[in-house]
Amino acid sequence: MPIPRIENTHMARRKPSSSTPASRTAGRAAARNTDSGSARGVPKGTGDRIAERAADVEATAEAMPFNANKPLEYGYDNAHAPQEGEGVEAPSDDVTASSLSEVNTSDKLGTRAGNGDPVAVGPLDPVRTDATARRMTTNQGVPVSDNQHSLKAGLRGPALLKDFILREKITHFDHERIPERIVHARGSGAHGFFECYAPLTDITRAAPFQAKGKITPVFVRFSTVAGERGSKDTARDVRGFAVKFYTDEGNWDLVGNNMPVFFIQDAMKFPDLVHAVKPEPHHQMPQAASAHDTFWDFVSLMPESTHMLMWLMSDRAIPRSYRMMQGFGVHTFRFVNAQGEATLCKFHWTPKLGTHALAWEEAVKISGADPDFHRRDLWEAIEAGEYPEYELGVQLFTEEEAERYSFDILDSTKLIPEELVPVQPIGRMVLNRNPDNFFAETEQVAFCTAHVIPGIDFTNDPLLAGRIHSYVDTQLTRLGGPNFHEIPINAPIAPVHNNQRDGLHRQAIHRGRVSYEPNSLGGGCPFQAGSAGFVSFPEPVTQDELRGHPEKFAEHYNQATLFFDSQSPAEQAHIAGAFRFELSKVTVPAVRARMLAGLANVSADLAAQVADGLGMEVPEPLPRAIAKVPQSEVDASPALSMLARPGDGGVRSRKFAILVADGVNGQTVETVQRALLDAGAVPRLMGVRIGPCVTDRGDTLDADVSLENEPGVLFDGMIVPDGADRMGELRMDARTLDYLKEQYRHCKALLILGDSDALLDAARIPATLPDGGQDPGVVVGGNASKAIDAYIAAAGRRHWERETDPPRV
Ligand code: HEM
Repeated sequence: MPIPRIENTHMARRKPSSSTPASRTAGRAAARNTDSGSARGVPKGTGDRIAERAADVEATAEAMPFNANKPLEYGYDNAHAPQEGEGVEAPSDDVTASSLSEVNTSDKLGTRAGNGDPVAVGPLDPVRTDATARRMTTNQGVPVSDNQHSLKAGLRGPALLKDFILREKITHFDHERIPERIVHARGSGAHGFFECYAPLTDITRAAPFQAKGKITPVFVRFSTVAGERGSKDTARDVRGFAVKFYTDEGNWDLVGNNMPVFFIQDAMKFPDLVHAVKPEPHHQMPQAASAHDTFWDFVSLMPESTHMLMWLMSDRAIPRSYRMMQGFGVHTFRFVNAQGEATLCKFHWTPKLGTHALAWEEAVKISGADPDFHRRDLWEAIEAGEYPEYELGVQLFTEEEAERYSFDILDSTKLIPEELVPVQPIGRMVLNRNPDNFFAETEQVAFCTAHVIPGIDFTNDPLLAGRIHSYVDTQLTRLGGPNFHEIPINAPIAPVHNNQRDGLHRQAIHRGRVSYEPNSLGGGCPFQAGSAGFVSFPEPVTQDELRGHPEKFAEHYNQATLFFDSQSPAEQAHIAGAFRFELSKVTVPAVRARMLAGLANVSADLAAQVADGLGMEVPEPLPRAIAKVPQSEVDASPALSMLARPGDGGVRSRKFAILVADGVNGQTVETVQRALLDAGAVPRLMGVRIGPCVTDRGDTLDADVSLENEPGVLFDGMIVPDGADRMGELRMDARTLDYLKEQYRHCKALLILGDSDALLDAARIPATLPDGGQDPGVVVGGNASKAIDAYIAAAGRRHWERETDPPRV
């Protein structure tokens, strides 16, 4: 918004000093001093730059004879309608400059700075660097003549201390690492954009939602929680789903997870939770795993964790891909419109490819075969133009509606069933660019729940309150001082102006002498935005200061039961298996018993299955913290099952292994490979070793993966073309059968062509399901072009219905 020029201000101008030759001379003399000044000021019209500046400074300061906003800083009504600050435009740039000498330019200084925004603000172009066709230099820009040898006194002599080139290189290397995040240390990032479907102006003034088709740039970081920076991607864990929106009105960070609830209700318990789940402090084990004593000791004493534990033990905790998991803001937020009216809101991200999971045994094996499994998947998909896409949806409700719910919407261990409040789609996010540099972008990005913009506000969720403090606080250490907002990936594209100054690693060079407000010497700038700025929603405070939670927070099991009861039989079996596995890793039986007693409040069936797997009896249910359990609004929520969200991806971007060896049917391989490519999948030729093999046609195929370098767990499906009879090399390799068995056990689709079905028999793979029906995921076909169509139709999902516990194969 333009600020008024000096002539427009309301003030009565003081009589300027008369512009006589004598006063002009005196003014020129006075203007050359920085420690005192004349009573009347310097007149205009001296023709002398320093004197003209003094006159302009005087005029600028004079234009603000008093602080016009002062009376408006007090009282209830004014607090509700903050006033825009006063600002005047100085008559010349010299007024707000630090120095008149700034007109002197150089290759380093560039041109004279205008009144402008810091360089880090805006596109990343100015900070991207590329050494193509450039020679090597030190950090001081000195060309390096030799990057192979340190400086020595003689070829066999001692290295010299004066070798500043060696010392700079080693010193920088010594300090390359920064502390990793205290949680969510392991992560992967991508750039993209958010596109708004339709204006939401009636409910929010938030910039990304003001017009149909409006595009807002985003940076997203997905992460695991417990593991260290170098830990495996496929640990059983919650996944972080953090989105930074670079909006016209500043950065908005939606720092969510792939599960809609959390373990605890109050930030006071967060350090306890994290200490419990991290490796145990005495021996620092286990890495990236909740399957140990301290975690289960803690959560079994915290019944409010039970609902989250159901999610953590479910397949949600071992996603197939970051591209195939939901995201949730978790807390209840507030949308606020231009009239200051609020609507309560929960945020949901829904992946276009649907929600899909790994099998637990597969996840364990992948962690050895490719600890970067999810990072690679995200990177490769974006490189291939298979841009991950998610729809943003909101659940909108009023305070009055929330009052009536059986649960408290300020309690982060509760979700709002979609059957109670539907999710309305409001836009889509597409991730279409990999970062240029992992450290500069993915490692240095700093998300924070406190980063909200006008139109989005908090609620009193006591977990959220702690987060609002925690992120910036931890980043002060992680990123080394208070100026990390200037790191290019963190800088907004909206202009940044305030009077914060200095601190470690400050990048911006602020012009002028004004770093306070109110001021008149800087024309009052930067002035407060008033109602155009962020105005906190004026939520009334209703009670005494105290430590505690409302009664509704004391109900701990209803939604855990809702979640379990809403899962498919296969998902329920996986949950039981996960509890069994994790609790079997606990070494203290009393902790197991306590947890079983908690599960008895969720589902007698689940508790019995887990107890059976642990060789224990189900104990008496844990006493409840609430005398009268409220009645839930819904007792089944189909939306909570991953199977309700298959997505529209099919085999797109999924990986398939086509087994090849000398003698393979070349025509079949070609047909299958082309069909998979046409369907958007990623087929690879898998040999006993990488390299050439000769087909039955006499031509050569080049296997680009091998049984030894890429185990079957890294593929979504497997195809054995006909020719097994001839492919003695494959038949002789025991790993071929292991491969087939694993694919089958992990419920992936198999395509076996021609005489290769003998391999199925050898692997003892049944073509029928446990209930006797035909297994649609085992396609045994004659004609390759027909069979591949049936296979592609079956291979976009897992065939959990074939699972038995213990596995048949
Ligand atoms: C009181 C509770 C919580 C506290 C104190 C807390 C604190 C933290 C801290 C200190 C970090 C590291 C930040 C950094 O170094 O940049 C972090 C990261 C993160 N937290 Fe929380 N957290 C809490 C709860 C949650 C919840 C409920 C969610 C999900 C809704 C969540 C999602 C995340 C995500 C996604 C990251 C990683 C951000 C990134 O990718 O850089 N946290 N949290």
